[in-house]
Amino acid sequence: MILAAQLSDTHFDLSARNTERVEAVMGYLADLPRKPDVILVTGDITDSGTPEQYAQARLALRADIPLYLLPGNHDDRANFRTALLDEPASTTPVNSVHRVGALTVILLDSSIPGEPAGYLGEDTFDWLRATLAAAPDGPILVALHHPPKHVFSPVVDVIALADPGRLAAVVAGDPRIVGILTGHAHAPIATIFAGKPMITCPSTASVLGGEWEVTLPHRVMDYAPDPAIALHVIDENFGLTTHFRSVAMSGLLSEPPPA
Ligand SMILES: [Fe+2]
Ligand SMILES: [Fe+2]
Repeated sequence: MILAAQLSDTHFDLSARNTERVEAVMGYLADLPRKPDVILVTGDITDSGTPEQYAQARLALRADIPLYLLPGNHDDRANFRTALLDEPASTTPVNSVHRVGALTVILLDSSIPGEPAGYLGEDTFDWLRATLAAAPDGPILVALHHPPKHVFSPVVDVIALADPGRLAAVVAGDPRIVGILTGHAHAPIATIFAGKPMITCPSTASVLGGEWEVTLPHRVMDYAPDPAIALHVIDENFGLTTHFRSVAMSGLLSEPPPA
């Protein structure tokens, strides 16, 4: 089996709070008797895309196993590239592909610079098709920040991925794709997209409720729950099984949560 840990929406904002929560999660993963084979971080790495926030993220997201990231709507492509990937600044989509044993991980950049909603451009679809054509016969995970499906979240459904049918056509046509991983919704969510499991990872920073919980504009974000992550198992039959874990902060906060 292959074990892939997923963090999302870390929202590094120069506060001690969000950093401590990621450090707790990374400590939890480092102490596991069976280490994950890979750690994926699915966007909104920073809260507003500044170099200082990325420097904070880079320090906290150190691991002795492979760790791969993709950007979300709160990120800045140029600063993401220079600070996290040691690449030249560029505002083209930050798409990447990685091999983890028999598993292929495809990370898609669904961000639109300056916009909260998501979109996969022509260049990203071209890259995705070429990447799938070149991928070996093993299982494939596809990850992107914006869920390509309505998730009954009043905050993120209005800033969702545009034209999800286009991604669905690619995903449904490839039997090697075992699942779609997303972030953005700040909640653990499971559904089916294009005939595959679609798993949305909770945020380490906060929880966004569903339509039955949120009352806009005042009752929106819950900062009380502990940070949470997803742990994906990919088995030899191309099956995807996901566990969700919260990591206890034990009430220890160096600064009070946001009002
Ligand atoms: Fe977020
Ligand atoms: Fe987001």
